[in-house]
Amino acid sequence: MPREETIADQNTPPLVARAFDSVAHSYDSAFLADYDHLRGDLVRLYRMAKQAQWDGETYLDWSIDVDPEKPFFPVEETAISGTSHWTRLTEREKVQLNHESIAWTLSQFLHGEQGALLATAQIVDSVPNIDAKLYAATQVMDEARHVEVYDRYLHEKIEIVYPINPELKILLDQVLSDSRWDMKYLGMQILVEGLALAAFQTMRDYSTEPLIKELTAMVMKDESRHVAFGVLSLKDYYRELSEAEVDERVEFVYEGCRLMRDRLLQREVYEKMGMDVEACVEIEYHDQMSKTFRRAMFSKIVPNVKKLGLLNDKLRRGFEELDILEFENMPSSEEEFADSAALVNEYNTEAQAETSLVA
Ligand SMILES: [Fe+2]
Ligand SMILES: [Fe+2]
Repeated sequence: MPREETIADQNTPPLVARAFDSVAHSYDSAFLADYDHLRGDLVRLYRMAKQAQWDGETYLDWSIDVDPEKPFFPVEETAISGTSHWTRLTEREKVQLNHESIAWTLSQFLHGEQGALLATAQIVDSVPNIDAKLYAATQVMDEARHVEVYDRYLHEKIEIVYPINPELKILLDQVLSDSRWDMKYLGMQILVEGLALAAFQTMRDYSTEPLIKELTAMVMKDESRHVAFGVLSLKDYYRELSEAEVDERVEFVYEGCRLMRDRLLQREVYEKMGMDVEACVEIEYHDQMSKTFRRAMFSKIVPNVKKLGLLNDKLRRGFEELDILEFENMPSSEEEFADSAALVNEYNTEAQAETSLVA
């Protein structure tokens, strides 16, 4: 006789709650024989990461009432504002477009965070240095918390979640399926996280919604450490590469940047709104403010790639063509991290002095 369904059954989610997409990969797990490297720069970063863990559930004020229909950024900054595609919309549709647009942007943040979670777990497994394994383990936890807070914000406050943008998915798949540990770093820590850091900066500095500003500011504190981890881990290793190996990485960086600069447009929003997709995407692509924003997304990537020694003549020409070479002399994440680490050290020294006085 079939068992009667209980309340417990109703509350238990199915084992596979939603559809998922699997990415095939193969790489060697590096099980190390010695622990000699537990003394380098990365250990300092590891200590900082352990102390900087925060809990989004208790730290953030989730009682803040968010109106997703109120624009997070000035409406004049919408790429199509002022065009016939905008004036043709009813007032209700304009409100909906703003809502869809912020949902799309934050959904890409969420999916990017999940990509970072998976890639960092692979780095723990594959990187052949013990200090990098320990540090990357803290990053896995950071990324889990980032997925948690963006997912909660989207579901509770925005109530619309978009699938991953196809071009972002291509880049994440490349990172996850490559068998070489350094390519995971290069794709995730340098490209995707460099891009995210610049996009988060815009959200933190210009959004008018207080909860997303605070949430993003907290995520950014972790992300700047993550990008510094990439630079610190790769810079010595890349000095040893052959010309052919450098060329392959240069090609990967150029293609990744081109994909993200030209294709990360909110096509899916225009489709959902039933608008003239090709015309709107074209306007967004050429819109001056949108262009400035897309270029600014590379302000972290270019100096970091240079720091890694990858900015050879070929990549320089590529960056020139993408109009992002101007960022080459900005401080690298390693330098920014050194500044922030000095501040943390100062703070810790003062805190220790105070503790010993109390004792
Ligand atoms: Fe993250
Ligand atoms: Fe990250």
